[in-house]
Amino acid sequence: MGLLLGYRRSFQTLREAERAVKPYGKGGHESSENVDLHISFPARLSDYAAFYYLRDRLPGIQKVFDLGGNVGILYYCYKDYLPLRGDVSWTVYDLPETISRGRALASSRNVKNLQFTDDFRQIDGTDLFIASGSLHYFDKPVPELLTQAARLPEYVLINRTPLTEGQDFAVVQDGGHIRVACMLYNRSKLIADFQRLGYQVLGEWQSADFRVPVLDRPSSSVGAFTGLWLELR
Ligand SMILES: C[S@@+](CC[C@H](N)C(=O)[O-])C[C@H]1O[C@@H](n2cnc3c(N)ncnc32)[C@H](O)[C@@H]1O
Repeated sequence: MGLLLGYRRSFQTLREAERAVKPYGKGGHESSENVDLHISFPARLSDYAAFYYLRDRLPGIQKVFDLGGNVGILYYCYKDYLPLRGDVSWTVYDLPETISRGRALASSRNVKNLQFTDDFRQIDGTDLFIASGSLHYFDKPVPELLTQAARLPEYVLINRTPLTEGQDFAVVQDGGHIRVACMLYNRSKLIADFQRLGYQVLGEWQSADFRVPVLDRPSSSVGAFTGLWLELR
């Protein structure tokens, strides 16, 4: 069964799924077609849920860490919908090629509030941590990444993430123009890990415009992606 399905099956680890899809990945996250697609994304329904929680908290949000923030698409999008602080410092963590594209774009637009990094230590001292459409591409769960910070961010926004009710496992996400490995993390464990760090979940929502079919475990297929708003107690 596994041989017949090739990369279209479940894997125990992200690394195994990455190895299986490598010859078929079409350049993966850093393909120029994928980065081009991200440059002018409008706000999606799941962003409006985030706006609901963000709006009243913006005066206390000066430093933002945006995991998998691509070329800064959420910064460019959110600033058109929300009164971000004028001195907001928005740091995007992403892959090297994407970071270079992001820096060039910010410089061409003379944007000063947006920075790029490949260093998780920059999480330290941030007010808001965002993992939007990205948590599932990391083999370390976000709560574990956050423990690298001496001071935890007050607010955490998770958005557009496939979660499972079963055990954590990895699959290949077929976006048509690219194929990439991703994790399906267990929802209850993820929330419990955040709670252990001192966070409470204030909001949870679903976006049905994304799904991940799992051919060899149909009951674990994800029909909608999840969003969470968390705050330190
Ligand atoms: C689907 S996009 C999400 C873009 C945006 N944050 C959003 O909400 O739509 C996923 C992003 O995660 C980044 N990413 C995936 N794996 C990564 C890794 N190992 N290290 C850094 N960034 C990664 C990709 O380059 C891409 O920019």
